[in-house]
Amino acid sequence: MIVAPTPQGIAEACRLLRDGHVVGMPTETVYGLAGDAYQDNAMARIFEVKNRPTFNPLIIHVASAEDAANLVEMSIEAQALMEVFWPGPLTFVLNRTKDCPVSLLASGGLDTLAIRCPAHPVAGRLIREYGRPLAAPSANRSMRISPTSADDVAVSLGDLVPLILDGGECEVGLESTILDLSGDVPVLLRPGGVLVEALEAIVGPIYQMKKESSPQSPPKAPGMMHRHYAPHRPLRLNATDCRVGEALLGFGEVGSLTVTLNLSVSGDLTEAAANLFRMMRQLDVDFYTGIAVMPIPSVGLGVAINDRLQRAAALEEKLNTFTHD
Ligand code: TXA
Ligand code: MG
Repeated sequence: MIVAPTPQGIAEACRLLRDGHVVGMPTETVYGLAGDAYQDNAMARIFEVKNRPTFNPLIIHVASAEDAANLVEMSIEAQALMEVFWPGPLTFVLNRTKDCPVSLLASGGLDTLAIRCPAHPVAGRLIREYGRPLAAPSANRSMRISPTSADDVAVSLGDLVPLILDGGECEVGLESTILDLSGDVPVLLRPGGVLVEALEAIVGPIYQMKKESSPQSPPKAPGMMHRHYAPHRPLRLNATDCRVGEALLGFGEVGSLTVTLNLSVSGDLTEAAANLFRMMRQLDVDFYTGIAVMPIPSVGLGVAINDRLQRAAALEEKLNTFTHD
């Protein structure tokens, strides 16, 4: 349902967000599919609605640079750029703070977080009123073009979204620029609303993946390299037993097996997705020699769960290219 951004409309959106639902949120770039960034279940719901076959990390939307400072480690460069370009179409990838309360599923289990402060007044009002950061990918089904009006969202996602706040046509109509400042060298991960030249005027040369005459040699660990989380211990998939030293990550009915943790006792894939990264981290400790994972059906969110597990299990993880999402 498309709703005007009146105080009542915003209040209704907040009520839905508190209950773990997702809502359509206008931003100056494209419409986002927003969920409470602290709730694992809301993040699982975003992936479910988008029908993404992978858990690509999401952008976390905040109302100010001060709010960002609670979630990510600020750098001088980030602060300088935020002063100039926020609110606006510029997303930073920065390291999560030690106690960062954002769901691990939101950032694909990574130690980094993509964060931005949108310039659209309705987005600003919603985030302030809600009082917590909102994770939001573009509000389209996977592989479809990004929506720039409330109608686009309704057409693309229909009944899957209980409420879409109407903020008119998006001014920029193009997704935000993504700048990775989590490593030694600034890396452009996605060109977008803010031009890279404008950024370089403030922070100096930025490494660009796709540009031949990049100002620097490639950094040792460009942002895209650690876009996927993998545990340090070996993963064994489709396990039907637990070997000596292993932790066993269960799913659903476990019969006579003793599981260390269970992704979802009732076999609920949304719950399993919500628990996935947190539980993998809990088991990725010296006490165990490896992590065995029980079979998970490849339907619905199970596809993304298995994609993540297979990548994590692969010994030589290949560099992942950008997927269209
Ligand atoms: O303009 C925008 O940025 C819109 C509006 C809604 O804010 N959002 C958007 O989100 O385009 P999405 O999910 O469609 O694209 C987010 C991109 C993905 O390519 C994802 O891989 C990347 O950001 N990303 C998110 N977190 C990351 C991280 N920690 N490290 C590297 N890349 C990350
Ligand atoms: Mg997108």
